[in-house]
Amino acid sequence: MVKLPNGDSLARPQAERRKDSLKPYTKFAEVYDRMGSDRHSIKMTDYCFRIFRRFRIKPINGLDLCCGTGTAAAIFADRGIKMAGLDQSAHMLAVAAKKLGLRGVTLYQKSLPRFKILGQHNSRKTRKFDLVTSFFDSLNYLLTERDLKASFRSVYNHLEPGGWFVFDMNTQEALKVIWSGQVYADARDDIAWVWKNEYNAKKRMAYCHADFFVKTKDHWERFYEMHTERAYPNAVIKRLLREVGFTVKGYYRCFSFENPKWDAYRICAVVQRKI
Ligand SMILES: C[S@@+](CC[C@H](N)C(=O)[O-])C[C@H]1O[C@@H](n2cnc3c(N)ncnc32)[C@H](O)[C@@H]1O
Repeated sequence: MVKLPNGDSLARPQAERRKDSLKPYTKFAEVYDRMGSDRHSIKMTDYCFRIFRRFRIKPINGLDLCCGTGTAAAIFADRGIKMAGLDQSAHMLAVAAKKLGLRGVTLYQKSLPRFKILGQHNSRKTRKFDLVTSFFDSLNYLLTERDLKASFRSVYNHLEPGGWFVFDMNTQEALKVIWSGQVYADARDDIAWVWKNEYNAKKRMAYCHADFFVKTKDHWERFYEMHTERAYPNAVIKRLLREVGFTVKGYYRCFSFENPKWDAYRICAVVQRKI
């Protein structure tokens, strides 16, 4: 149920996708950075460099999973890490390719949970990295424990022994407080949006009904995407990581080095493949 600011409610079955729904990150890709959604990558890469110092990580080859419009990959590449990016959305990757320009970042259009990147020169071997990252609750788009675990396994298989995986995820508290029944809207000169969010506590799933209005030359275009995220308890995330062989080196309230208490909205995990 979406509550409107005037107290009314929009009754709508929680997981109903409107008929005009585009796939997530189709047209949203064109306006993602303009809406400021790329700011998270700037904060996250900053935080990552603090994590690197803390654990003495010196990455050489990195993969940004669910890289979106490529902001994190660009920042890491500018700091000397040879980067690759993976995302399932061709639209996000198109924006990323433009942004990354001549930085030499290879982009792969692939989907989690099971993905395989092969080495160079038609090698049949899986390409290995010493760092994999995934930012801005991208892993919350995996809607079953099975898919989350399979994604962790795919990451594990792409890491060198001793390689690191750093990711953030939304918590149950975030979906409950930030998504549940909230409406987010803004109107600027050339873009406006109305995002109505719903939360199903039993399933720990949140649904964002996102309407966008974008001005192109002399007319406004409207489009709609529905985004679905699922939250996982910290104990489950850590168990799945360990089951695929990772050692959990750090598990934090995101942007800090504190334990995430019940009220944390976002966690950050720092895990390592066995040496
Ligand atoms: C919230 S955006 C985050 C993008 C980028 N990491 C950032 O920080 O700005 C989520 C991204 O995850 C990608 N994504 C979602 N589910 C995916 C899946 N199953 N496989 C690959 N990419 C996926 C989307 O296409 C989108 O680019």
